[in-house]
Amino acid sequence: MGSLPAANVPRIDISPLFGDDGEKKAQVARAIDAATRDTGFFYAVNHGVDLPWLSRETARFHQTISDEEKWQLAIRAYNEKNESQVRAGYSLPIPGKKAVESLCYLNPSFGPDHPRIKEKTPMHEVNVWPAEERHPGFRSFAEKYYWDVFGVSEALLRGYALALGKEENFFTQHFQRDTTLSSVVLIRYPYLENYPAPAIKTADDGTKLSFEWHKDVSLITVLYQSDVQNLQVKTAQGWLDIEPDDTGFLVNCGGYMAHITNEFYPAPVHRVKWQNAERQSLPFFVNLGWDDTVRPWDAAAKDGASKEQDTCNESISYGKYLQGGLVGLIKKNGQT
Ligand SMILES: [Fe+2]
Repeated sequence: MGSLPAANVPRIDISPLFGDDGEKKAQVARAIDAATRDTGFFYAVNHGVDLPWLSRETARFHQTISDEEKWQLAIRAYNEKNESQVRAGYSLPIPGKKAVESLCYLNPSFGPDHPRIKEKTPMHEVNVWPAEERHPGFRSFAEKYYWDVFGVSEALLRGYALALGKEENFFTQHFQRDTTLSSVVLIRYPYLENYPAPAIKTADDGTKLSFEWHKDVSLITVLYQSDVQNLQVKTAQGWLDIEPDDTGFLVNCGGYMAHITNEFYPAPVHRVKWQNAERQSLPFFVNLGWDDTVRPWDAAAKDGASKEQDTCNESISYGKYLQGGLVGLIKKNGQT
């Protein structure tokens, strides 16, 4: 097999999306539009988030959490006691079987008194945290990071809205601090001297994988990763490597963006190669609120390439999309 080039993943300076210069914002929007319709990935740079701090604090947490604490924070897949914990909580490694481990947390606004928590609306959970004495400052770090990356995502969503020829608040009006279902997942892929064979999957083309091909269940995904190459995107040329860049956020569209734009902004198909290296993968899955609904439209029409008839996708609320999408992903690829 001949060696393929790396995927075209441009670095886009998103700082204008935090400002007031309309022409500069329009330039960023055009760059986002081009990347989204090419490989579907770009690096957002000049985002204002302290990524070395994110990486350092996450590493400290991963290195100091005990097995006992992991069980205390475990999601329902392992721990029947944590009945409400479907997304939020710890996903444990299984010696000899599963190497990856992660902590997922949701909107810090979801406290016991939040109306959605009281009503037991699906997908809403109160976060679980390790004891402050054992992990001093971890919870405040994690909550601060949630709002930092929320702010970057707001800017990105303004860019996507402009890219689609909409008002810049087209998405952000549905991306609100008290209702967003967005999640952070702090994923650790360890280096292991004896890597468990069941944790290494083999793709149809023989590539060793940690996570099989999929589309993200999100509106967009905003990802920090260590400087270790692992992601591949499916293109017309085949599976192409995405070069790592730990100074930027890797951004791509998820299934809801594809659905509402009638596939004009597709959710790129990607997969995670197996690498025996200690590394972090820290996605922020940008989700709207439970009731928020963006009505699908023929987004291609802005380029004069409108579909002949009314073949737009059906309207679906974000909550229903998220619920169905996550169940589908776990069925297909297993619990991460
Ligand atoms: Fe993904």
